[in-house]
Amino acid sequence: MRISRLNLENFRNMESLSVFPCETVNIIYGDNAQGKTNLLEAVWLLSGAKSFRGAKDADFVRFGESRAVIESEFFCDGRQQTSKIQIEGKKTAWLNDIKKDSVTAFAGIFTAVVFSPSHLSLVKDGPAGRRKFLDTSICQITPRYIGIISQYQRILLQRNTLLKDISYAPPLLDTLDIWDEKLAALGGAIIRMRMEYTRRLQKEAADIYKGISMERETFSLSYRPFGMDVSQGQNQEEITAQLKEKIAQNRSEDLRSGSTGIGPHRDDLEITINGRSVRAFGSQGQQRSSVLALKLAESRCIGDILGERPVILLDDVMSELDQSRREYLLNHLTGSQIFITCCDKGYFSRLEQGRVFKMEKGRLEQE
Ligand SMILES: Nc1ncnc2c1ncn2[C@@H]1O[C@H](COP(=O)(O)OP(=O)(O)O)[C@@H](O)[C@H]1O
Ligand SMILES: [Mg+2]
Repeated sequence: MRISRLNLENFRNMESLSVFPCETVNIIYGDNAQGKTNLLEAVWLLSGAKSFRGAKDADFVRFGESRAVIESEFFCDGRQQTSKIQIEGKKTAWLNDIKKDSVTAFAGIFTAVVFSPSHLSLVKDGPAGRRKFLDTSICQITPRYIGIISQYQRILLQRNTLLKDISYAPPLLDTLDIWDEKLAALGGAIIRMRMEYTRRLQKEAADIYKGISMERETFSLSYRPFGMDVSQGQNQEEITAQLKEKIAQNRSEDLRSGSTGIGPHRDDLEITINGRSVRAFGSQGQQRSSVLALKLAESRCIGDILGERPVILLDDVMSELDQSRREYLLNHLTGSQIFITCCDKGYFSRLEQGRVFKMEKGRLEQE
């Protein structure tokens, strides 16, 4: 997967911009507020996803203008393809000159992985973000997972409502078993799939982190089912049976609290360096390197399964990394097209291959 040409028209602060990126590393440097992140955001939108900055469609259109256009030529599936997004009130999308109902038509065709400073929450904040990270990746790889997750959430909601209703309508207690059964079956499937994906991710992330840290630190990932004791070798039936038992054991507590205390909605992904939690003990640089390793591992996993490596977008990640980590990043990420933004051009003195661009007031110049 690689972009060979990108044209922007009235996208954010870029009036008219045309760029021919190389197949390997593309560096975009410049002072603050010049449009570097805006450029990555435009590339990201081509994957059919929403802005990684939480922006609304109208925010993309250059102040004072009414229409923004993102146009690209990219190489995917063994051939040159084109895509176009026009934002004028609403978004309109074309793939290979054929108009599509929505930009989601680009999903799975143009794939990208993005890491911006806000993604640090993946290691810094609570488990919800980590569960979402796992779920989003698994959905791209195994589309039937989308249905399993939404069914689980629906049943969880219904069970929680029932738990509250039982307090004033005790006979309803008889119906709880049915919900427990359904919840355990779906929950068991989710835990099994998340564990399997974590196993794949762990292998790649550990390898990448080893490189980033010059083999000085050991990175590890493990999926932690809340209140359960599950080993990697256990199959879905065994996990489901255990989950069912734990839900039963926790029933009186659930009735008291009016919510479900055990299940994959409470699970976490534990991230450690040299055996210690990155969240609790990691330095700023280690936390940043961990998210980087996770994101790059995600791109490898998706690439291995879909047969094409996603484009990697790294926004402002260089400043917290020391020289050796930066060098690894610049020169050891072969096989993917990468876009990296940063302020200091000095970081790239040892770039072995790649292209350097300067961004100034929404204008891009190749050096
Ligand atoms: N819709 C828009 N029209 C014009 N300028 C915009 C728009 N949205 C953002 N900007 C400008 O883009 C600049 C920020 O660009 P950004 O890519 O975040 O900078 P950086 O180079 O630091 O990554 C700000 O000056 C902001 O005012
Ligand atoms: Mg920026």
